[in-house]
Amino acid sequence: MAAAPPTVGAAVRAGAAQLAECSATPRLDAELLLGRVLGVGRERLVIDRARPLAAPQAVRFDALVERRAAHEPVAYILGRRAFRRLELSVDRRVLIPRPETELLVEVGLQFAAGSSVLDVGTGSGAVALALADERPDLEVRGVDVSVDAVAVARENAARLGLDVSFRVGDLVEGCAPADHVLANLPYVADRAPLPADVVGWEPGGALFAGPDGLAVIRRLVGAVAVRRWPRLLALEIGSEQGAAVAQLVRRAGFAQVEVRRDLAGSERVVVGRR
Ligand SMILES: C[S@@+](CC[C@H](N)C(=O)[O-])C[C@H]1O[C@@H](n2cnc3c(N)ncnc32)[C@H](O)[C@@H]1O
Repeated sequence: MAAAPPTVGAAVRAGAAQLAECSATPRLDAELLLGRVLGVGRERLVIDRARPLAAPQAVRFDALVERRAAHEPVAYILGRRAFRRLELSVDRRVLIPRPETELLVEVGLQFAAGSSVLDVGTGSGAVALALADERPDLEVRGVDVSVDAVAVARENAARLGLDVSFRVGDLVEGCAPADHVLANLPYVADRAPLPADVVGWEPGGALFAGPDGLAVIRRLVGAVAVRRWPRLLALEIGSEQGAAVAQLVRRAGFAQVEVRRDLAGSERVVVGRR
């Protein structure tokens, strides 16, 4: 005789135990996956903890836990990632937006009313869309070298009803001038070790940038150095790259350069003004 399906609470405990080795947040992951199966939020799982799952729900939950145990990120399994006030669609075509990238959005929140912003390496559109959502007076555009990423960004803009135009292109090549450029480009060194969830699942073209991780940033700084725009350039960086990137930006003619830290205290964004 088949075993009876578990209760909601028992399913969360069993899922969390199964994910303990592959995830830093096993209980949260199990709750999010079971919430998806049941179509409810995490708080409802607590209220309903003594409720038995229906057999098909238990089977579906097990299948999602198996995917997570194979290191697939929860955001890809759910097809969604929260970023600031937005719920973005994400899949393997784009990098999963990270909380530390909010710092780049915060730079944009300070821009003068009505100014124009170009998000270079827009991926899912996270930075551009969050900015358009919180500062509808700005003229926001996004560009990415990946045709797939631009398709995801456009889908997100349409679903969220946000007025951002996206194009496929290499850095700022062929882009109309903008007052400000924000960029979270790849900045991981080619041989840097990354967790299995990241390296096995997220697009390599969104992560790696040459032996020191600065190959793409260096090209962008070179490209803006020979243009009269933008007035402000803000670049997300790795925690060890502040001094090197600040020097690149200064040499490109940006007289005022600062390195900002994220909530964890790591150097995260270089801002240059000219
Ligand atoms: C680290 S991901 C960031 C995605 C998004 N901005 C975010 O913060 O979630 C870097 C993005 O830069 C794009 N990219 C890499 N090289 C590029 C280039 N030469 N021109 C434009 N985009 C590029 C990648 O395709 C990827 O979408």
